[in-house]
Amino acid sequence: INGKIEVCSVDKIIKGEAVRFDFRDKTYAIYRTNDDQFYATDGMCTHGNAHLGDGVVIGETIECPKHNGRFNLKDGSPKRLPVCVGLKTYTTYVENQSLYLDVS
Ligand code: FES
Repeated sequence: INGKIEVCSVDKIIKGEAVRFDFRDKTYAIYRTNDDQFYATDGMCTHGNAHLGDGVVIGETIECPKHNGRFNLKDGSPKRLPVCVGLKTYTTYVENQSLYLDVS
């Protein structure tokens, strides 16, 4: 698939964690939920200048580290103020114990 890039080995991302991932001139955030699903969104919060990779995964949401706004990980929709603009989401794949992201 065009735009499919390898991020890292899946065991580099601990369950319940968010990580920052930079590729070309963009920043993404990758999430692994406690029930072992992977998601990816734009890396910067839509409310301010904060990296969501530094945030906390709570269920199927990410909580921004700056003002504690939240987004749904599946569709990027805003879930708690002060966040009111959603995030772009990206498809993730796990193959041979590696995580891939479709950045197209
Ligand atoms: Fe993320 Fe304000 S910068 S909630």
